[in-house]
Amino acid sequence: LLNKQPLGVYVHWPFCVSKCPYCDFNSHIQSSIDIELWTKAYLLEIQHSFEKTSKHEIKTIFFGGGTPSLMPPQLMDKIINKVCSLWSVEKDIEITFEANPSSVESSKFQDFRKAGANRVSLGVQSFDDDALVFLKRPHSAGEAVQAIELANSLFGRVSFDLMYARPNQTLKTWRKELETALLFRPSHISLYQLTIEPGTAFYTAFHRGDFKLPEETLSAELYETTNRILSNCGLEAYEVSNYAIPGQECRHNLMYWTYQDYVGVGPGAHGRLTQNGRKIATRRHNAPSVWLDSVLANGHGEHELEVVTAPDIEFLLMGLRLTQGVSKKEYELISGVPLPNPLKFKVLQEEGEVWETESHFGVTTKGRLRLNAILNFLIV
Ligand SMILES: C[S@@+](CC[C@H](N)C(=O)[O-])C[C@H]1O[C@@H](n2cnc3c(N)ncnc32)[C@H](O)[C@@H]1O
Ligand code: SF4
Repeated sequence: LLNKQPLGVYVHWPFCVSKCPYCDFNSHIQSSIDIELWTKAYLLEIQHSFEKTSKHEIKTIFFGGGTPSLMPPQLMDKIINKVCSLWSVEKDIEITFEANPSSVESSKFQDFRKAGANRVSLGVQSFDDDALVFLKRPHSAGEAVQAIELANSLFGRVSFDLMYARPNQTLKTWRKELETALLFRPSHISLYQLTIEPGTAFYTAFHRGDFKLPEETLSAELYETTNRILSNCGLEAYEVSNYAIPGQECRHNLMYWTYQDYVGVGPGAHGRLTQNGRKIATRRHNAPSVWLDSVLANGHGEHELEVVTAPDIEFLLMGLRLTQGVSKKEYELISGVPLPNPLKFKVLQEEGEVWETESHFGVTTKGRLRLNAILNFLIV
């Protein structure tokens, strides 16, 4: 019997209670949402995605945002049921939702679990109340602690996000924050260095000189310290910003990084599908109301569908984020050669930024600090 091709389902919930000043995700504030229409639209779009991928087997569902913990649990329940009634589904399917750790949202965790979620990713961001105020987060450190404890008692798998390399942060204060994080014995944690994205409130404030970010050398030290401390606790950096006890990696994100197929449902959601040996990129309308109208009129909110012209580059962009690197065999299947740009690769290897074995190649911890520059160098 042939194995079915694996598939991930990404579901985007685009709403938040407030807009964080650093965030460039597709997130919106809207006071009233017609939940009946939204439910109808999600189910229609799932049906539409199924028609293109009916022979696949679902491995993961990921509710991202926006703030999916604001979603009514009944909606999550209906979406999960719809997916499971259409496709064949792997026995130990991973179903993750992102949650903000406010007390209102934590009170719904039990219902999300009943709906079928078995993994939660909490946007804690910091254990320091002043930092949370700076980041304009709608929750306190105390609420975050309660949310983690509750999540730990309800879900088999809990992860949380922290943001570091913040203004005025020192090695010492970050180390202390990491120690607090480790008190919860996380099996997975995502640690992002704060980046200033165009179009955000922080972009304007930063360029106006309202605050400074740590110098590059401090950022590098922060990164290396982070890796060391977590590794001592058994949490391995399996990706640039993601750490897990082996076996507890986020399987959904691994689908992206290993360039497997996934469908994206909801406003702005991306998808990647292999059809007749080619990768097809799909994208939904970003604006929630445009997406909603389009799904109700056409059965889907797709507005772009194109063949990926350089799948080898996309494969590298994803795969080189992973500590395990990429398989030469797989890279060769896509690009026709086992190694990208051997001459340039050699230069990077001499700098200690990339590595190569008989079967794989990848980026070292040192190289990961400037992954984008490495990718640009290799690709151009
Ligand atoms: C979509 S959000 C997570 C869900 C939820 N809305 C929240 O804010 O907690 C994904 C994560 O990306 C990180 N993030 C977003 N913008 C960032 C930025 N400019 N720099 C660094 N990390 C960022 C945050 O840690 C955030 O938790
Ligand atoms: S809650 Fe999350 S998705 Fe919403 S604005 Fe803040 S960072 Fe962005």
